[in-house]
Amino acid sequence: MDDKNNTKILVLVGSLRRDSVNRSLAQVAADNAPAGVEVELYSGLELLPFYNEDIDVDPVNAEVVRLRKAVADADAVLIATPEYNGTIPAVLKNAIDWLSRPYGAGAITGKSVGVVGAALAQFGGKWSHDDTSRSVGIAGGRVVEDIELHLPIGTLEGRPVTDVPEVVEQLRRAVAVLAAATAEVTA
Ligand SMILES: Cc1cc2nc3c(=O)[nH]c(=O)nc-3n(C[C@H](O)[C@H](O)[C@H](O)COP(=O)(O)O)c2cc1C
Repeated sequence: MDDKNNTKILVLVGSLRRDSVNRSLAQVAADNAPAGVEVELYSGLELLPFYNEDIDVDPVNAEVVRLRKAVADADAVLIATPEYNGTIPAVLKNAIDWLSRPYGAGAITGKSVGVVGAALAQFGGKWSHDDTSRSVGIAGGRVVEDIELHLPIGTLEGRPVTDVPEVVEQLRRAVAVLAAATAEVTA
C-alpha cells in the first residue's frame, strides 16, 4: 500500500539482536496498523557513527543522511526499546542524538513520538521508557504520553507476541493513538 494520504510511522528499534522481542513488537505493530496508517521498521541503526559534532558537518555520513531523511519523511516515530542497565540502549540514544541536530531543526523536532518496549525485569523496562521519553522530548520530539507499554518479557511465557492477543491489541492501540496525535498536529 502506498497512498500519499496515509499516515506514515517509522519505527526505531533499540535492540540489534537477531531474535529481539522489541523488533517483534515493532513488527506486530506494523502488521496490525489500522487502515490508512503505514508502519515501517528502520534497519541499520548500528551503521551510524557515534555522534560527534566534528563530523556533523557537510558532507555528513551517508547513514546519518539516510536516518534523518527517513524520520523527516515520516509523520510520526514509534520507538520499541528494551532497557539496558536501567536505561536506554546506546544504539538508540546515538540515533536520537543525530536526530536532535541541527539544534532546534533536527529531523525529530516537532514529530509525534510514541515509546513502547519489552524487557526482562518486572517493570518491563519502565526506566528505559521514561529515559527515552525524556531524551526524545529534549531532542525536540512531541512525546505522546498516552502510549505506555513496557512489557515484562516473562508475561509472554515463551509465546510469540502474535499469540498474545492483549499485547497485539496494545500495539494496535499504540499505533492508532500515535496516528491520531499526528493528525491533531497537522490539522
Ligand atoms: C547489556 C544488557 C543490559 C540489560 N539490562 C537490563 C535492565 O536494566 N533491565 C531489564 O529489564 N533488562 C535488562 N536486560 C535484559 C533485556 O531486557 C533482554 O535481553 C531483552 O530481551 C532485550 O530486548 P530484545 O529481546 O529486544 O533484544 C539487559 C540486557 C543486556 C544485554
